[in-house]
Amino acid sequence: MRQSSLVVVANRLPIDDSVAPDGACEWRRSPGGLVSALHPLLRQTPATWVGWAGGTGPAPALADVDGVRMHTVPLTAEDVRDHYEGFANATLWPLYHDAVEQPVYHRRWWEAYQRVNQRFAEAAAEAAEPGAVVWVQDYHLQLVPGLLRELRPDLRIGFFLHVPFPPPELFMQLPRRAELLRGMLGADLVGFQRAQAAHNFAQLVAHVLDVPADDRRISLDGREVRIGAFPVSIDTAEMAALATRPDVVARAARLRRDLGNPAHVILSVDRMDYTKGIEQRLKAYSELIADGHVKVRDTVLVQVAVPSRERVGQYQVLRDRVEREVGRINGEFGRVGEPAIHYLTQPFDRAELAALYRMADIMAVTPLRDGMNLVAKEYVAARVDDTGALLLSEFAGSAAELPEAFLVNPHDLDGLKLILMEALQADRTDLTGRMRAMRAHLSRHDIHSWARSYLAALDSSGSLLNRVVSPG
Ligand code: ADP
Ligand code: F6P
Repeated sequence: MRQSSLVVVANRLPIDDSVAPDGACEWRRSPGGLVSALHPLLRQTPATWVGWAGGTGPAPALADVDGVRMHTVPLTAEDVRDHYEGFANATLWPLYHDAVEQPVYHRRWWEAYQRVNQRFAEAAAEAAEPGAVVWVQDYHLQLVPGLLRELRPDLRIGFFLHVPFPPPELFMQLPRRAELLRGMLGADLVGFQRAQAAHNFAQLVAHVLDVPADDRRISLDGREVRIGAFPVSIDTAEMAALATRPDVVARAARLRRDLGNPAHVILSVDRMDYTKGIEQRLKAYSELIADGHVKVRDTVLVQVAVPSRERVGQYQVLRDRVEREVGRINGEFGRVGEPAIHYLTQPFDRAELAALYRMADIMAVTPLRDGMNLVAKEYVAARVDDTGALLLSEFAGSAAELPEAFLVNPHDLDGLKLILMEALQADRTDLTGRMRAMRAHLSRHDIHSWARSYLAALDSSGSLLNRVVSPG
C-alpha cells in the first residue's frame, strides 16, 4: 500500500460512475461544491483521496486521477441507506440548514454513522505516511477526526465543514450531540465557512462538554484545538480562462440564439435541493409574469436543477413539486416555441457551465440557507467583461464576501420580485461597478488562497503548504 503525505478524506470521491450515451460505464467529475473546491487543488500534489465511489458492494479499484490516488471506501446498500441517505442527509443536512425541512432521528442511522465513520478512519490511517496531514471534509464524517487520532496519534488532522454549523438551539435537538462534538475535536484545526459558525461551535462545546472554549481555541485532554473561519472558494483563474475560450464564447452566443435572443436571460444552477429556494424563485418569477412586469418574449428563465440524493423522500417530493410548478408556469404563460422556463436536469461539463454563465444577464442564486454557494462565485469569475448581475441570497455564505451583489431575502416573495426587477432594470455603469468589485475580491480570494490559509493554520511547519499550493 502506497502512503501519502497528504490525505483528503471526503464522503464522495471526485469522480462518479455514470452511463455514457452508448451505454458504457464512464467516470465523470461529481457535481457539488466540495469536489469543485478540492479538485483543482490536489492536481498539484501527490496526495490520496479517500472516499466512496457512489455504488454499493466491493470497492472498485480506480486509477489515479490527475496524479491523485483514489482510495475507495466500500459501502453496503444498508450503509448508503442509513449513513448517507439517513443520518447525513435526512438528519444532519436539514438540521444544519435551519431545519427548513424536518430533521428525522433514527437510532439505527446513528449506528450506521458510527460504523461508516470508523471505516473511513481506518482507510485514512492506512493511506497516511508517518506524520502526514489528513484533511477530513464535511458533515458525513464528523466522527473521523476523533477515531483517526485514536488509531494514528502521529498525524496532523484537520476538519473542514462545508455546510453551515447551526446555532445551539437547533444543534441541541440532536440525540448524540456530545459524541459529534467530541468527534470533531479530534482534529487539530476545525474550520468553518463563517465566523458565526465557529462561534456556534465554541458555545456548544462549552455548554455540552463543559470545556472552556472561545471562538479561536479549545483546550481538551491536554491538547489545543484551534477553530476558525476559512470561506471556501473556486479556481477563479480557471473559470475566467474557460469563459474566454473562443469555443465557449461561441457556445454562449449560440445558446442565446437558441433561446430566441431575448432581451434578458435569467439563469439558476442548483443541485435539486430544498435548501436552494427553487420553489420560492419560481413563484416570484411566475408572479412577475402574471402581474405583467415581465414578458415571456423579452425575458426567459433557464433553470438547471441536477437531481440529487434521489432516494431521500424529501428530495423526491421536492422534484415532483418543482416539475409540477415548471409545467404549470409553462402551460399558463408559455407560447408555442417560447416556454417561460427552460428546465434542464442534466449534469454539464465545465465548458458548458461556463457558456451558460457567459450567456446569462442575471444569475439568480437564492438559497434559503447555504454554507457558501460556489455557483455564485463561478458566475462572477466567468463575467470577464464585467457585465451581468448577481442576485444573491443573504443566507448564502458567499453573501458575506460579495456585498455588491443584489442581496435578497428569499423568504420575502415581494422583496424577491422587487430585487429581480431592480437587477433587470439596472444601468450598465451600476452593473459594471458591482461586477468589477466582486471579480477583484475573487481574484484575491480563490481556492488557492483558501487552501493556503487553512493549511498554514493546520501545519505550522509550512512544509506541506509549500508543496500543495501555488505561490500566492
Ligand atoms: P452544493 O455544494 O450544495 O452542491 P455549490 O453551489 O457550492 O452547492 O456547488 C455546486 C457545484 O456543482 C458547483 O461547482 C457547480 O458548478 C456544480 N454543478 C451544479 N450543477 C451542475 C450541473 N448541472 N452539472 C455539473 N456541475 C454542476
Ligand atoms: O457541501 C455540500 C455537499 O454535501 C458536498 O459535500 C457535496 O459536494 C455536495 O453537497 C453534493 O452532495 P452529494 O455528495 O450528496 O451528492
